[in-house]
Amino acid sequence: MSIAKSLTKLEFRELKNNESKLVIELYNSLSNESIYHRFRGFFRDFERYITSIFSDPRNVIYGAFINNELVGVLEAVYLSDGCYEIAIVVKDNYQGKGIGTRLIAFAMSDLKRRGAKTLVAHTTPDNYRILAISRKFHGTVKCMYEECTTVFNLQSINVDQLLN
Ligand SMILES: CC(C)(COP(=O)(O)OP(=O)(O)OC[C@H]1O[C@@H](n2cnc3c(N)ncnc32)[C@H](O)[C@@H]1OP(=O)(O)O)[C@@H](O)C(=O)NCCC(=O)NCCS
Repeated sequence: MSIAKSLTKLEFRELKNNESKLVIELYNSLSNESIYHRFRGFFRDFERYITSIFSDPRNVIYGAFINNELVGVLEAVYLSDGCYEIAIVVKDNYQGKGIGTRLIAFAMSDLKRRGAKTLVAHTTPDNYRILAISRKFHGTVKCMYEECTTVFNLQSINVDQLLN
């Protein structure tokens, strides 16, 4: 493998409870703009947030890594049988390079394998990137006032095709 390829190797996997520090570090590194888009406001209590997600074993946190550096995370929070709420962020310097799209495809494929049927995501109408990605994954987007809700029907998406 060439050096260029090994430098940009992107890997995805589920994160474990004992990796919460990594996730908190990623959140602490984000610009205000990314925090605003991720949390739809200027949220800062990342430690409590990540601890609460890891405290429920039905939730899943996925990570995207480049050369062992965590560059993106996607949290899937269990809502009800077969239904999860998802939220994602990619480190500022790595945005716009296709990582978010691939992390969502990886998470969708894994969640479908675990029996998930529906995924829900919330965003603001000015978040063009996530809205563009949501449409790529055939999400049904409904916007009202300052919030857009996207519903993904995993049964009608060929997620494995999206992984390639
Ligand atoms: C949203 C986010 C996760 C996307 O990850 P990413 O790696 O930057 O996204 P990708 O590079 O995979 O794809 C971005 C897509 O948005 C599109 N896009 C970018 N700017 C756009 C704009 N102004 N209008 C329309 N589409 C736009 C790109 O063209 C690209 O689609 P393409 O691959 O078809 O060209 C990332 O930007 C991020 O972390 N943002 C801050 C947090 C956030 O908004 N989270 C989502 C809400 S929970």
